[in-house]
Amino acid sequence: MTHAEAPERGVFITFEGGEGAGKSTQIAHLAARMTAAGAPHVALTREPGGSAFAEIARTLILDPASAPKGPLAQALLFYAARADHLDETIRPALRRGSWVLCDRFSDSTRAYQGAAGGVAPAALSQLDDIVVGADQPDLTILLDLDPKIGLQRANQRRASSPGTFVAADTYEGRQLDFHQRLRAGFLALAAAAPQRIVVVDAQLNELAIADLIWRHVAERFANRLAGAGKGAP
Ligand code: TMP
Repeated sequence: MTHAEAPERGVFITFEGGEGAGKSTQIAHLAARMTAAGAPHVALTREPGGSAFAEIARTLILDPASAPKGPLAQALLFYAARADHLDETIRPALRRGSWVLCDRFSDSTRAYQGAAGGVAPAALSQLDDIVVGADQPDLTILLDLDPKIGLQRANQRRASSPGTFVAADTYEGRQLDFHQRLRAGFLALAAAAPQRIVVVDAQLNELAIADLIWRHVAERFANRLAGAGKGAP
C-alpha cells in the first residue's frame, strides 16, 4: 500500500437468531479464531447498541416499561439506532479495513418487527435502503433453534446472571407463537438470500458450531485471510 492509498474495505459479518441461540458465545469463538488466523483488526459490536446513542436506545427499547408497544414504532427506533451505529462505529471500522462482527442487524428487524410483528416487508425494505444502503453485511450467520429450547436457555441465563433486566425483556416475554413466527421469518430470509445467509443448527454443541462457522468464514474469505496471516488456526 502506498502512502496515499486507503486500506481495503473491511468485512462485515452479522449474527442472527432467536432468543438463546448462542450468538454472543459464537461471536467470541469466531473473533478468537480470526485473530489466531492473523486478521489484524476484529471489531465486535451489537444491536440494538454499538454507539453512545444506540446503547441508550437499547435500554429504552428492551425495558418493557419504556418500549413502544407497536412494531412500527419499534422498527423506527431500531433503524434510528442503526443509523447512528453505522455512522459512529460500523462504517468507520470498515473504512479502516477491520473485520466487523455484529450481534444482530437488519435481519432482526425483518424477523421480529416484520415476520413476527406484522410490519410490511416493503416498508422495512425502504427504511433499510435509506439507512443501510450499500453497507449490507457480506455474510450473515443464522443460528437456528427450536424456540422452546431457546427460551429455556434464555430463562436459565437470566436466572444465573441477573443483569439490568431481571424479568424477561420486551421480546423474550412474548408467547411461543411469536417466537415460532420469528424462527420461520428468519428461515424465509435465509431461503431468499442463500448467498449471504448461512443457516447453522444451534442445537449442535458449542465447539461443533464454532468449527462450522469458522469453516464458512475461512472458505468465503480465504483470500482476505491469506493476505492477513496464516490461514486456519
Ligand atoms: P439480544 O437479546 O440479542 O441482545 O437482542 C435484544 C432484543 O432486541 C432481542 O429480543 C431481539 C430484539 N430486536 C428486535 O426486535 N429488532 C431488531 O432490529 C433488533 C436489532 C433486536
